[in-house]
Amino acid sequence: MSLTLIDRLRVAKEAPVIDVGGGASLLVDRLVGRGYTDLTVLDLSSTALEIARRRLDDTVHVHWLHENLMTWEPQRRYALWHDRAVFHFLTNAGERAKYLTTMRHALSDSGSVIIATFASDGPERCSGLPVARYDAADLERLLDGFTVVESSREEHVTPDGTVQPFTWVAAHRLPVAEVRAAAQGSSTGPRAPAFRKLI
Ligand SMILES: C[S@@+](CC[C@H](N)C(=O)[O-])C[C@H]1O[C@@H](n2cnc3c(N)ncnc32)[C@H](O)[C@@H]1O
Repeated sequence: MSLTLIDRLRVAKEAPVIDVGGGASLLVDRLVGRGYTDLTVLDLSSTALEIARRRLDDTVHVHWLHENLMTWEPQRRYALWHDRAVFHFLTNAGERAKYLTTMRHALSDSGSVIIATFASDGPERCSGLPVARYDAADLERLLDGFTVVESSREEHVTPDGTVQPFTWVAAHRLPVAEVRAAAQGSSTGPRAPAFRKLI
């Protein structure tokens, strides 16, 4: 699903991409394989980061950030913020507000975001911890000022056969009129190529 949405958002290969709570996920390997050149993986767990780092060829350069999203201060801005199964761990309003502030600081003005959480009928716990669950409208409400490109439900099947319903949302940090204008090629600004043919 992540790769499908990244394609849908037309994220350029040289664009800075961050996978927050990326852990040992294979997404970074897949993105390297597709030619993405400016990748950052942030995670609380140094063990998970090390597993991902060791999988990759020594010649591949990835920024590995051993950080807690609740205290991290972004040092640069990203064109894509990707989060699969991290936001849902934030079960109080203060944590959620902190996350969203950090996400907005880290994201460029014309950046894009992908967030996936357990769906409202999904599991109540993830990795043994309680989670907050969302449907598409809940996630979309959090993205004030963004234009949602796609919201979807995924019935993820774990290796032991358990079905985990996920909610996914992908959005651009631009008002809908600008996204439409860029998609139609009527914008002459630098954002236009990224969104052409998008909607
Ligand atoms: C359920 S795993 C998801 C991993 C990966 N995104 C995937 O889809 O396979 C959640 C990951 O988020 C990380 N994580 C949880 N809370 C975090 C926080 N506050 N800051 C950074 N990483 C966090 C965990 O260490 C873990 O690697």
